[in-house]
Amino acid sequence: MTNPVKIAVLVSGGGTNLQALLDSESNGTLKSGRIVLVVSNNPSAFALTRAEKAGVKTVTITRKEFGDGFEKAIIKVLRENDIELIVLAGFMAILSESFTSAFKDRIINVHPSLIPAFCGKGFYGLKVHEEALKKGVRVTGATVHFVNEIPDGGKIIMQKAVAVRDNDTPEKLQKRVMKQAEWKILPASAEKICAQILKSRGE
Ligand code: GRF
Repeated sequence: MTNPVKIAVLVSGGGTNLQALLDSESNGTLKSGRIVLVVSNNPSAFALTRAEKAGVKTVTITRKEFGDGFEKAIIKVLRENDIELIVLAGFMAILSESFTSAFKDRIINVHPSLIPAFCGKGFYGLKVHEEALKKGVRVTGATVHFVNEIPDGGKIIMQKAVAVRDNDTPEKLQKRVMKQAEWKILPASAEKICAQILKSRGE
């Protein structure tokens, strides 16, 4: 690939989804794009260490430091690095409409349920799996979708189902959904969208 799509991954925490993306780049399944930047809103996110180990440039931008200029600061660094696709991988901040419309159809997110179940404002982390177990669903999973101004409301790109087991706890279910679904469909979706971007460039 001579001119792969430049990808930025936005993170806040452990970064296992970032790791899945980095691994898929090194094993060649993510071939139409290259991760050139990792942005964290949390200075102690382990995701930053993962990025550094992989030799990817990192930037930390916090609301504490930037206040109302938080999103503007992120946009600035994305523009400076000519980013064409933004992947939200455990990024714990809701982006405003002015941000999402500035990158229309160029931001994707992974959510740990089969949207439209267990999604929207307040549904993040373990809470998603707690609610799924409370409801008694027998099947859950993960979804990768485009990001617009509605939390978890953009068009769906990929989904993968995961069976719920009788002895599941939110923690066990969270791990299984990550392993069986999120770490697979996030890199696959990134490749799919990057390939589309290359095609639209005529490459
Ligand atoms: C994942 O469950 C993801 O779906 C959610 O936040 C979690 C992030 O985990 N949005 P990690 O930082 O990728 O390990």
